[in-house]
Amino acid sequence: MTNGKKLIVGNWKMNGSAQSNFHLLTQLLRADLRFDVCDTAVCVPSVYLQQVKTQISDQIQGSKGGSIGLGAQDVSAHEEGAYTGEISVSMLREFGVSYVIVGHSERRQFHHETDQLVAIKAKRALGAGMTPIVCVGETSQERESGMTEAVVRRQLAAVIHLNGHCINEIVVAYEPVWAIGTGLTATPEQAQSVHAVLRAQLDAAGAENGRRIRILYGGSMNPANAKTLLSQRDIDGGLVGGASLKAVDFLSIIASA
Ligand code: PGA
Repeated sequence: MTNGKKLIVGNWKMNGSAQSNFHLLTQLLRADLRFDVCDTAVCVPSVYLQQVKTQISDQIQGSKGGSIGLGAQDVSAHEEGAYTGEISVSMLREFGVSYVIVGHSERRQFHHETDQLVAIKAKRALGAGMTPIVCVGETSQERESGMTEAVVRRQLAAVIHLNGHCINEIVVAYEPVWAIGTGLTATPEQAQSVHAVLRAQLDAAGAENGRRIRILYGGSMNPANAKTLLSQRDIDGGLVGGASLKAVDFLSIIASA
């Protein structure tokens, strides 16, 4: 649920190395991130959670409050046990993770994740006190055949159905699949109109009165388009892939929030 601030989240995907992470974070942590007006987080590959956690907390010592939040890019739908390769919420919690992306289109596409599985992952995260960033979005084919609204509503409905009133604690990210990593961005009007649909669905599901669940836009957000996108009425922040890997670009997007 929003505190009135925008939220800018970097999704590093499967990028980085111990060395490049260190350089990127050093630049981010040196900048004036204005935590009073914008929350910021980075969702990093799990093998680097410890590194990023340590670098962030070293910097917090003696700083004037506020810090970059730590996020993961996925979580297991299971609690523990024989699930080779998976990582549980309790493991993420040990690394101080506060956000976890669930249902990213790359996981839906390449790992065949269903709406139901995404809803369970959101539930696991909520149960562990983490904020799931629930991704929804249509493919270009679905958009061309006029199915955008139906698709995003169906994806969000599964999460609402399983999580009930707990949805007040989620973050939603609208990421049109055709805009991810392609350089094609939804126009501010296209994005706003889908965000309004999602907002109405959340309100109808009983999102608490007067409180707003944050709905982020994602898909080729960059320093040139961030300001107009972020000024739309129902866009509460951004989920940034490629541009979050370059400190200047990510900082510029944060500054436009
Ligand atoms: P992109 O990725 O900014 O590189 O398009 C966004 C995302 O997939 O979260």
